[in-house]
Amino acid sequence: MLKRISVLMLAGFTAMAVAGCGSGGGGGGGAITMGFSQVGAESGWRTANTKSVQDSAKSAGITLKFSDAQQKQENQIKAIRSYIQQKVDVIAFSPVVESGWDTVLKEAKDAKIPVILTDRAVDSKDTSLYKTFLGSDFVEEGRKAGKWLVDEYKSSTDPVKIVELQGTTGSAPANDRKAGFQEVIKAEPKFQIVASQTGDFTRAKGKEVMEAFLKSTPDIDVLYAHNDDMGLGAIEAIEGAGKVPGKDIKIITVDAVKDGMQALADGKINYIVECSPLLGPQLMDLAKKVVKNETVPTRVITQETAFNQEQAKAALPKRQY
Ligand code: AHR
Repeated sequence: MLKRISVLMLAGFTAMAVAGCGSGGGGGGGAITMGFSQVGAESGWRTANTKSVQDSAKSAGITLKFSDAQQKQENQIKAIRSYIQQKVDVIAFSPVVESGWDTVLKEAKDAKIPVILTDRAVDSKDTSLYKTFLGSDFVEEGRKAGKWLVDEYKSSTDPVKIVELQGTTGSAPANDRKAGFQEVIKAEPKFQIVASQTGDFTRAKGKEVMEAFLKSTPDIDVLYAHNDDMGLGAIEAIEGAGKVPGKDIKIITVDAVKDGMQALADGKINYIVECSPLLGPQLMDLAKKVVKNETVPTRVITQETAFNQEQAKAALPKRQY
């Protein structure tokens, strides 16, 4: 008798465990498992984004399988394939570059696992390969940077020599921030981009490339860096060359992480266009909906602003990241 009860209890426990951990539970009202492939840990922005995703998954009761691709597309493709094999309920990822995703996204679609793009876009023509794209309008961010520059130099007729630190080659933010900035400044020939190179969104590369710019390009007026981290690295290079960042060379960056905002408050950066990394809560809401096969908007754009020195001073005490 005792043996029969134990066998029944064990069977019941096993069934509960499978229901709790198994895949496909989201559609039937059980726990959702999300496979998330992160770009890497290249910047302060990325660290804040990872925290936002992990914290929000916890609060939403979503089981998160997280992998860091160390800025390599092949690692992301491997991670996505492994999530397909594990039969997760939903896959979310921030694609390191825009191109080359069709095959793996088709594999996810064939396995009936919905995909959410977060932060960065892919250039796939077939938009049925993913359910939605949550993230910033990077072209608009570039435009905001360009508009500040045009305004800053509105009373000057002299040439304005600009150096540009681009983000990761082939990534959506690098492509779009460049395009948006150029779209605005091209109307006035006095704005000249005299050097433009990738700094891969990292502080170390930003410093290294700015050191090279300072050697090769005399009389730089402006640095446009596609993120705060590269701008902060460049500030070290500028100071190392005996120049004053924010005065001898004006600096525009994108992100508005705490370190960047501090440099703006200190007058070392002149203007920051905000790019919010706090995508986690919206991502979890979208995940719950797509798992239930509910309709979601195909594009969800993050609300963002921009900061000058005074605005940075006011915002800094409450800055979360
Ligand atoms: O995709 C968002 C960009 O990636 C951020 O601007 C940058 O800091 C990050 O590494």
